[in-house]
Amino acid sequence: MRPKIVAGNWKMNNDLQQGRELAESIKALQGEIPEPVNVIVAPPFIHLADIGRTIADTRLKLAAQNCATEEKGAFTGEVSAEMVRSTGAQYVIIGHSERRSYYQETDQVVYQKIEQALRNDLFPIVCVGEKLEQREADQYFSVVAEQLEKSVFQLSAEDFGRIIIAYEPVWAIGTGKTATPDQAQQMHRFIREKIEENYSSKAANNTAILYGGSCKPSNAEDLFAQPDIDGGLIGGASLKSRDFIQISQSFTL
Ligand code: 13P
Repeated sequence: MRPKIVAGNWKMNNDLQQGRELAESIKALQGEIPEPVNVIVAPPFIHLADIGRTIADTRLKLAAQNCATEEKGAFTGEVSAEMVRSTGAQYVIIGHSERRSYYQETDQVVYQKIEQALRNDLFPIVCVGEKLEQREADQYFSVVAEQLEKSVFQLSAEDFGRIIIAYEPVWAIGTGKTATPDQAQQMHRFIREKIEENYSSKAANNTAILYGGSCKPSNAEDLFAQPDIDGGLIGGASLKSRDFIQISQSFTL
């Protein structure tokens, strides 16, 4: 059925040498990754080509953390989906809450990036999630529904088939405050129901929905044991190869 995925979002950490060392040390442990689990690393743009070579011919896959809304041209400082693809990356994280809040990315921008990614044969990992005040005001379902409706739910059924969703409650990111397995499961179930409403039960069953937000070796097992949680998008704990690999071993197989 749907894949099990553990993706490491390195964010803006590690210079090139440190990034290379981290990739090498994850590569050295790759034999310990259980067979059905897909492990993805998402280093900063500047590392992509280099790490792409390091992990070529291994079980590890490569993702970018972002891509441009435009195809090519005079957009100084931007990196296109085509450039990302040319490094050997197969995935791209889109709409991370840090991009939404610090760089004013709207759902429209998220949608344009998804389109660029799809046009260039990348699998988009699309992030959604509510802020603390929205959780406290009991608006979390409507916030996530709106993010989905204005981005991925604009896609055709065929294009939607290439989407991976990551539910990352903003209040759980980098705070050490994880959503409980029940809270996460409740939202993942809700997202799956919305997919069924918008597409089909087949699409709902086949879409991987990852949890992100202070996921680490000590809580991954309980999270991944939930029926609608298909893996994790890992920040801090993905910077330690041992922890990252241990998270990949946290599925009940
Ligand atoms: P942390 O695991 O550091 O909370 O970050 C989660 C995240 O934002 C992954 O994209």
